[in-house]
Amino acid sequence: SRQIKIAPSILAADFANFGAECRAIEAQGADWVHVDVMDGHFVPNITFGPATCAAIRPHIKGFMDVHLMIAPVDSYIEAFAEAGADLISAHLEAGPHIHRTLQAIRATGKKAGLAINPGTGIEAVAHLLDLVDMVCVMTVNPGFGGQKFIHSQLDKVRALRKMIGDRPIHIEIDGGVTVETAPLVVAAGADVLVAGSAVFKGGSVDNPGPYGANIAAI
Ligand code: DX5
Ligand code: ZN
Repeated sequence: SRQIKIAPSILAADFANFGAECRAIEAQGADWVHVDVMDGHFVPNITFGPATCAAIRPHIKGFMDVHLMIAPVDSYIEAFAEAGADLISAHLEAGPHIHRTLQAIRATGKKAGLAINPGTGIEAVAHLLDLVDMVCVMTVNPGFGGQKFIHSQLDKVRALRKMIGDRPIHIEIDGGVTVETAPLVVAAGADVLVAGSAVFKGGSVDNPGPYGANIAAI
């Protein structure tokens, strides 16, 4: 069976303590650190940009998974690559030239992710598989943590797993992952689970034990 990775989203962390939060979640068993970049344009919320990613980077020993919810994308790819991202995901819906965007991410030497919103089908993904290391299926509408998992996305995950076949491409699930929904997405074929509120609830940098218990429970 597939090895499942847990990628806590620091969208649910203490924004005044990103360094300590990243160290805490890794010490508590996180496989990847998921970094949500929002621009107030592609999504109705704003987080931070490449300078913050660069500041966080030295506090992450492992894999930094940067989810760009921004439009346009291309003019910022270099900056996020230089900030130390290991993988950069861009949204299929962020512009008319996603193929060029994925090529540009690959050209930096970083891994490329393709994120798709709940209302987007997987037909277009078929034409992009040669350019991606991961497809990120959004199981909430992007912009905010703590939203309810959209169950209709499970069929899409199953179809995507079938389409990917034995290509070395991760399927990441982002949004509403909990103890209850995690088994469903894993059964449908996902292997990277982003979790924000479900990881950070009940804990803090001074009391990180709950992070570990939450990660273990997912
Ligand atoms: C939503 C973000 C997610 C979010 C997940 O736009 O891309 O990464 O932080 O948060 P939870 O796990 O709380 O749904
Ligand atoms: Zn995300």
